[in-house]
Amino acid sequence: MKNVLVVYFTQTGQLSSALKATLKPLENDPGVNLHYELVKPKKAYPYPWSYMEFFDVFPENVHAIPCELEPFSADLHKDYDLVVVAYQPWFLSVCVPINSFLMSGDAKVLLNGKPVVTVIACRNMWLNGQEKMKKKLLELNANLVGNITFVDKSPNLISLITVLAFVLGGVKDKFLGIFPKYGVKESDLEKAPSYGNILIDHLKSNNYNTLQEELVKDGAVVIRPNLMIMEGRGKVLFPLYANYISKKGASGSKSRRTRVRIFGIVLPTAILILSPIITIASRLAPLIASKKMKKEVIYYSQNSLR
Ligand SMILES: Cc1cc2nc3c(=O)[nH]c(=O)nc-3n(C[C@H](O)[C@H](O)[C@H](O)COP(=O)(O)O)c2cc1C
Repeated sequence: MKNVLVVYFTQTGQLSSALKATLKPLENDPGVNLHYELVKPKKAYPYPWSYMEFFDVFPENVHAIPCELEPFSADLHKDYDLVVVAYQPWFLSVCVPINSFLMSGDAKVLLNGKPVVTVIACRNMWLNGQEKMKKKLLELNANLVGNITFVDKSPNLISLITVLAFVLGGVKDKFLGIFPKYGVKESDLEKAPSYGNILIDHLKSNNYNTLQEELVKDGAVVIRPNLMIMEGRGKVLFPLYANYISKKGASGSKSRRTRVRIFGIVLPTAILILSPIITIASRLAPLIASKKMKKEVIYYSQNSLR
């Protein structure tokens, strides 16, 4: 019997549907025992978010400040064969609830020496969050052996509008009746069990050497150069702006409201302006720096840390 621990967080169920579709082959296999563990912050994050709540979470999220979690139900003494960690990036970093788990004493016990597969379901920007995940897993002496991603495949500006309607307005259907539904498409969920089928072979043989290569070949990781360039900008600027807000006060404090509000205007505006420019630049980039771009795509498709 193979024992698999699945640690995950979700607010609206977007991630859990992708996760459960992926793990269906494991679920259906009598030789595999799955334990799902939903990470629950003691103070639940709101859904839908108010404008201030949403942007106020940014500094602490970027600075990786943990929140308090409800106790785990998983057996800390069980020798799991594999741990799946499923999460969303928030503001290009691992979301607070999952980061809080990674910083907990439980994670030290549960992940020590274990093979780990990450599953991400998000809008479209997960590269920097996954770099932080890789670093945390190394610190925990865990071995990242696979990464499976689900993204909203709409153009960046369209999903910027639909994600804001989704998280701030609670719009789960077509925004204004004309925009596509936010999130992971039904067709991607139908494809998801094929990643589970790949994973199960490696779980059974306890050899993960070629897992990521096979997952990438099967489409589990698709990297768009324009988004990669865009994330590169955000990665540099976000910590600076997070510091700028934090200097004015702690999470939720009145004294930093103006700065949070400005960030809430500047961020979508910057994406609106930069997105078309970067898309054009990314089309030219392969002509100017084709080797570098290819190297970057290969780097982000695999699991070691530079
Ligand atoms: C505070 C916050 C920040 C987010 N930041 C990002 C981001 O940086 N990149 C991204 O691709 N998606 C981002 N998203 C979208 C989430 O990844 C995810 O798609 C959405 O929250 C729904 O997931 P869930 O219902 O499974 O929690 C963000 C969502 C929230 C709530």
